[in-house]
Amino acid sequence: MNTVKTVRELRAAVARARSEGKQIGLVPTMGNLHSGHAALVTKAAQQVDFVVASIFVNPLQFGANEDLDTYPRTLAADQEKLLQAGCNLLFAPTVEEMYPHGMQGLTRVTAAALSNELCGSRRPGHFDGVTTVVSKLFNMVQPDLAIFGQKDYQQLAVIRAMVHDLNMPIQLIGEPTVRAEDGLALSSRNGYLSEEQRALAPALYRHLREMATAIQNGERDYLALSSQHAAQLEALGLRVDYLEVRHASTLLPADVSDRDLVILVAAFLGTTRLIDNVHLNLDNAL
Ligand code: PAF
Repeated sequence: MNTVKTVRELRAAVARARSEGKQIGLVPTMGNLHSGHAALVTKAAQQVDFVVASIFVNPLQFGANEDLDTYPRTLAADQEKLLQAGCNLLFAPTVEEMYPHGMQGLTRVTAAALSNELCGSRRPGHFDGVTTVVSKLFNMVQPDLAIFGQKDYQQLAVIRAMVHDLNMPIQLIGEPTVRAEDGLALSSRNGYLSEEQRALAPALYRHLREMATAIQNGERDYLALSSQHAAQLEALGLRVDYLEVRHASTLLPADVSDRDLVILVAAFLGTTRLIDNVHLNLDNAL
């Protein structure tokens, strides 16, 4: 696996692969990779002949008081994991390479309206930062397919909307969330948790599952159900940012007649904000 740091080298390597008739897959990441990322690369390697991963901690998607400076940068370990998972090329640019003229006055891709909900309303500008950097990566690599994790459910929905609205000729694949044995969704931010917080964190998925079971069993008062479980999480010591039942594709608040639902949660343990979700289709068994 080669690592390149410039757009020129990236384009040259991808052009070589294309000239050999290879299909190209892209797995965009911010690094500090775990088995969830490895699963995305493995999936890509099953689908295409040439897998490009990117590692770029994108300043454009971090708010002023967020963890841009402390976000873990672990390139050597990441390279090893990517190699094991079947990655062919790693693109690991600097901020200057990605934004040579700075970020002020930059042309941006405005994310679809569904980005204003949930995480978007708590992290203003976050999804515009994501759609801008992802469309830059798409233009640089011009992949046949791109793979993202379903843990970032709203991010995937926003990127799907971008690809559809801007007619990008890229197949998107959402891969299921990889979890620790106790149910906690793997996330680069789990590393911020103290031992005590880590022990509490699986409660998020536990409560999502309990809510899904209640809905499956006929509960339709989604507001009451959400506030009941949010209160239980708060009692355990988590600070709930949101816990909501939404329509799975529009991400609007779920109506009692909706069949395709997603329950989404964002909660703080100390200063660490974790997100998770459970998708349930009432026409299929849980
Ligand atoms: O999910 C992430 O790691 C990032 O938001 C992404 C998609 C790589 C864009 O920076």
